[in-house]
Amino acid sequence: MVAARITVNGKEVPLSPSAPHTTVLDFLRERGLTGTKEGCAEGECGACSVLVARPGVDKPTDWVAVNACLLPAAALDGQEIVTSEGLATAGEPGTPPTLHPVQEEMAVRGGSQCGYCTPGFICSMAAEYYRPDRCAHSHADADSAAEPAAEPAGSAGSADSEHGPNGFDLHALSGNLCRCTGYRPIRDAAFAVGTPTEDDLLAQRREQAPPAPVATAYTHDGSAFLRPGTLSEALELLRERPDAVVVAGSTDWGVEVNIRSRRADCVVAVDRLPELRALRVASDHIEIGAALTLTEIERRLDGGVPLLAELFPQFASRLIRNSATLGGNLGTGSPIGDSPPVLLALEASVVLADTDGEREVPLSDYFTGYRQSVRRRGELIRAVRIPLPLSPVTAFHKIAKRRFDDISSVAVAYALDIEDGIVRTARIGLGGVAATPIRALATEAALEGRPWSAETVEAAALVLRAQGTPMDDHRASAEYRSAMLGQSLLKLYARTTEAVSS
Ligand code: FES
Ligand code: FES
Repeated sequence: MVAARITVNGKEVPLSPSAPHTTVLDFLRERGLTGTKEGCAEGECGACSVLVARPGVDKPTDWVAVNACLLPAAALDGQEIVTSEGLATAGEPGTPPTLHPVQEEMAVRGGSQCGYCTPGFICSMAAEYYRPDRCAHSHADADSAAEPAAEPAGSAGSADSEHGPNGFDLHALSGNLCRCTGYRPIRDAAFAVGTPTEDDLLAQRREQAPPAPVATAYTHDGSAFLRPGTLSEALELLRERPDAVVVAGSTDWGVEVNIRSRRADCVVAVDRLPELRALRVASDHIEIGAALTLTEIERRLDGGVPLLAELFPQFASRLIRNSATLGGNLGTGSPIGDSPPVLLALEASVVLADTDGEREVPLSDYFTGYRQSVRRRGELIRAVRIPLPLSPVTAFHKIAKRRFDDISSVAVAYALDIEDGIVRTARIGLGGVAATPIRALATEAALEGRPWSAETVEAAALVLRAQGTPMDDHRASAEYRSAMLGQSLLKLYARTTEAVSS
């Protein structure tokens, strides 16, 4: 087996002597690439953002921005990354490098003050700059729109407040925090970037496939990071090492390593296994591979499952969604994970695999207690199945202190069939009100077979308020959580009746 190494800014760098739990952030900084910064070490500030070459949707390769503080460096064995240092083009000896267009715009539009967050913003911005389906207008249009004129924040001549006239999606920066510049100059820079020129090497790089995943067996000081080459190897390994920590995007495990100083003798990466990365649409269900990232699912489904489309923008940040997976979100079993309420409302099931074969478990039977599930030791989540047809009336209400990039106090997902004014079926998933995500069965029963009317909904909202066993904690009181459940159903009713009357 070839010694583990990562291609960083075009040069191969050996992984050794880093420990298997060493993050990409520390790996880079220990080698002098100190542009990549540590702010929070838990995926919330984006100071550590770097670009990774990943399989693309519209081109063979996409440049994807990820949090280097969460990802073990060993997970990038054989892979290719670019840091903020790699974006500028080196000049002749004694002359400064030529800034990348994104760096240039940030500099001239005052997007950086202390500069601590800037390399992270630059990498997130560069990923958006190279996104092949970014609908770009002419650079001249973008330039004039980004002039710091007397327009209110968010107008900037753009079609909506979240997209620039150059197609730049501000959600690309939702995982980047800046403490001193203020966001308008950063937005101005984002909305001013043009399109890559033909001789842009990173744009050209998108035309070739990213490096193929390589099997990795990296060991150091008695601990190991293992990437099996096939699903059967992975299942065999998990049978032999049921104590192993399984990671895909490592967005949860990375926090455990950094903040809680957890270490594992053996970490097994499953995120590149083809069997966990397929998305298939059959006549009666959609099967989503457990290791597809949320960004990949979002782009591939392209709104085809409206409830998931409503979930994704509210799930952490783009940086996290570029690594996080449905398998990971279900595998951790958190009662406040964002995807379980949605998947419960969609009546999804989980496909579990081990060396004896596969079994399919309805998600409503999957969770058994706080961070507990029916998943046995040695079993892997291979896929999530969503039955078809989908219910036409859906909504996801996440109640949190911030609108984006926050943990929910309460989350409610709805999937309703309303025919001739009567609720034929109601499926409601709840998060944050019990030790596990739950279905609101009593509320479903209070709705089904009844007219979709203010009277029915008000009565059902009282039932919903009493569902689960919400707790008081630092995010919200039990009383507030309970009140939000009831309000959520009233809001859904108001929205559906607005839609009918307009
Ligand atoms: Fe804050 Fe990585 S250091 S997201
Ligand atoms: Fe100082 Fe952003 S420029 S934190």
